[in-house]
Amino acid sequence: GGDLLSLADLNADELHDLLTLAAKLKYGDLRPRCDGKVLGLLFYKASTRTRVSFSVAMCQLGGQVIDLNPSTTQVGRGEPISDTARVLERYLDILAIRTFAQQDIATFADYADIPIINALTDVYHPCQILADLLTVRECFGKLNGLTLTFLGDGNNVAHSLLLGCALTGVNIRVATPPEFKPDDAIVARARQLATDSTIAIVDDAKAAVEGAHVLYTDVWASMGQEDSAVDRLPVFQPYQLNSGLVQLAAPEAIVLHCLPAHREEEITTEVIEGKQSRVWDQAENRMHAQKALIASLLGLVV
Ligand code: CP
Repeated sequence: GGDLLSLADLNADELHDLLTLAAKLKYGDLRPRCDGKVLGLLFYKASTRTRVSFSVAMCQLGGQVIDLNPSTTQVGRGEPISDTARVLERYLDILAIRTFAQQDIATFADYADIPIINALTDVYHPCQILADLLTVRECFGKLNGLTLTFLGDGNNVAHSLLLGCALTGVNIRVATPPEFKPDDAIVARARQLATDSTIAIVDDAKAAVEGAHVLYTDVWASMGQEDSAVDRLPVFQPYQLNSGLVQLAAPEAIVLHCLPAHREEEITTEVIEGKQSRVWDQAENRMHAQKALIASLLGLVV
């Protein structure tokens, strides 16, 4: 089967079909089953949403989940990924990995002949963006032609949003401090993929949110960057998603955050708890989107 290492592994039609399948699984009568199949979760970093939503999605499909804790397996003691991958493919049907380096997931995919899913690296977070796009589509009934503004750090979520928006015709504006821009090569890739939408990488948060339909932010200091968090706060302050910025967006704009949230840092309590916030639906949609992804990668639906 295929892998999901990055959203660029999908073309526009495949991404559209995956979101449609997720909506059918959420609201419809479609009940694909994968009895006897086993999903491995190899997570080198903490997770609430991704871990639990993958587990529940697999349970609801009739499959089983094996938790592969790096500290209680040999991967944490330096067994090469190339060896681990060739062993795990003999036991598992599908494997989701959360790790630091994108290259490590690519190595798993090279050596394991089962679907490998990127459950977050330092570079990408494709599963999150499947749920985000599903949420936006539920709210507006479409994706093409909308404008999404991402505020804060040009991080893994920003990178995957750039690719996901490019593939679905959503105009994206990424507003970050100059020293925290998204990766140039990923921006260039998104521009190649975009056939019907615009991509703007800017400094000015106020201009970036003007008239936008979706306002999106994420933590300013990701896992592993906590030590520099205090130094980073003043630089990011102009990008805080607060009511002043929300008022500049379209009146029907929604607010998204992939969570966990740091209230009064990247988003105010007023905004995340406010009437335009859709963050709980967004978190729920992780489960529906990943159920569709598992079903698709295991060939349960055609
Ligand atoms: N948004 C997200 O990936 O959350 P977790 O780190 O809890 O999985």
